[in-house]
Amino acid sequence: MNSTAFTGIAELVTGDALLDGADHSEHLGLLSDAAVVVQDGLIAWVGPASQAPPADERADVGGRAVIPGFVDSHSHLVFAGDRSQEFAARMTGVRYDGGGIVTSVNATRAASDDELRALVAGRVAEMRAQGTTTVEIKSGYGLSVRDEARSLRIAAEFTPETTFLGAHVVPPEFADRRSEYVDLITGEMLAACAPHARWIDVFCEPHSARAFTEDEARVVLSAGRQAGLGLRVHGNQLGHGPGARLAVEMGAASVDHCTFLSAEDVEQLAAASDTTVATLLPGVEFSTRSPYPNARRLLDAGVSIALASDCNPGTCYSSSIPFVLALAVREMSLTPAEALLAATVGSAKSLRRKDIGVIRTGNRADLTVLDAPSFLHLFYRAGVPIARALEPGGRHGQ
Ligand code: NIG
Ligand code: FE
Repeated sequence: MNSTAFTGIAELVTGDALLDGADHSEHLGLLSDAAVVVQDGLIAWVGPASQAPPADERADVGGRAVIPGFVDSHSHLVFAGDRSQEFAARMTGVRYDGGGIVTSVNATRAASDDELRALVAGRVAEMRAQGTTTVEIKSGYGLSVRDEARSLRIAAEFTPETTFLGAHVVPPEFADRRSEYVDLITGEMLAACAPHARWIDVFCEPHSARAFTEDEARVVLSAGRQAGLGLRVHGNQLGHGPGARLAVEMGAASVDHCTFLSAEDVEQLAAASDTTVATLLPGVEFSTRSPYPNARRLLDAGVSIALASDCNPGTCYSSSIPFVLALAVREMSLTPAEALLAATVGSAKSLRRKDIGVIRTGNRADLTVLDAPSFLHLFYRAGVPIARALEPGGRHGQ
């Protein structure tokens, strides 16, 4: 098989804490004037350009910076319809309560498979064009056996990181029969969805009448675990609540949002930092005019954090990790290095993946190139589209 040596890398952020000769001052594993050799979709060698081994092909990236491809560990890309009016209303002060999810459910149910597939393909392409190389995709706008299963079948065409979110909200037809809907999720719907899913998620939120209580969420997660799925939780988004506590109790890989956490939640997440990652989604706070989560407090307490987009039609219709990174630095007091690590190695950890998020020999060759000499430009040049996933063949677009 052909090998390609990427050269002309002015600055390489590897994220590899063990890389010899790298600058480890901010845990970035930084090399300057570096090369990366890629073979069969995997990284074969990383180091100073002057020591690069021979390869079949060379691709000079022209003095640009290269970073690990972003890992977007939380998205809801399978939906149809438009909710831009809801966004506009929020910008004038209307509060988000999850009520608009039904609009997306109706449009998604009405769409054909091909329409949904084309919508997901467009959104995944948009993400790659902004530097994302792995995306987790949830169902959750079908909320029937047929529509949840087809959402996951379509998602699985684009990523192995698929998440069953039948427990997004109770759909209107079950409004007076919540326990019947939980039975459906844990019974027939789970059976139809589990073959297409790696994870199960639940919107555990006492501040939304349509979301799930702690007890309901525990039942859903237990059934998912029984079916062989890993656990994720939407929690602590709209106010204080049981989500983070439940995620830790059940050994979930991630609790996502974490906007409102008590001192006890933070303590528990810190104690569980090897198992449960707190995933922050500041695009949501931006798009719902809400206060940002206190990321500094989490890092200082020793909590493992990740940053992701939550790209969805309601609370954040942005697929841009660079936008999320800029928010994390400007609004959440993270350093640029902390933010970048949270969207790469941190989010890889939340997916329990060791083969992505770090540029290291043997890992997937998921590289993102910046039209800039340093990763700092991601923040310094906020809003300018300088990041894109490097194509495996070495095309890097001048
Ligand atoms: O992650 N909070 C629950 N679910 C999504 C939003 C869903 C929607 O409003 O369409 C979220 O924010
Ligand atoms: Fe979400």
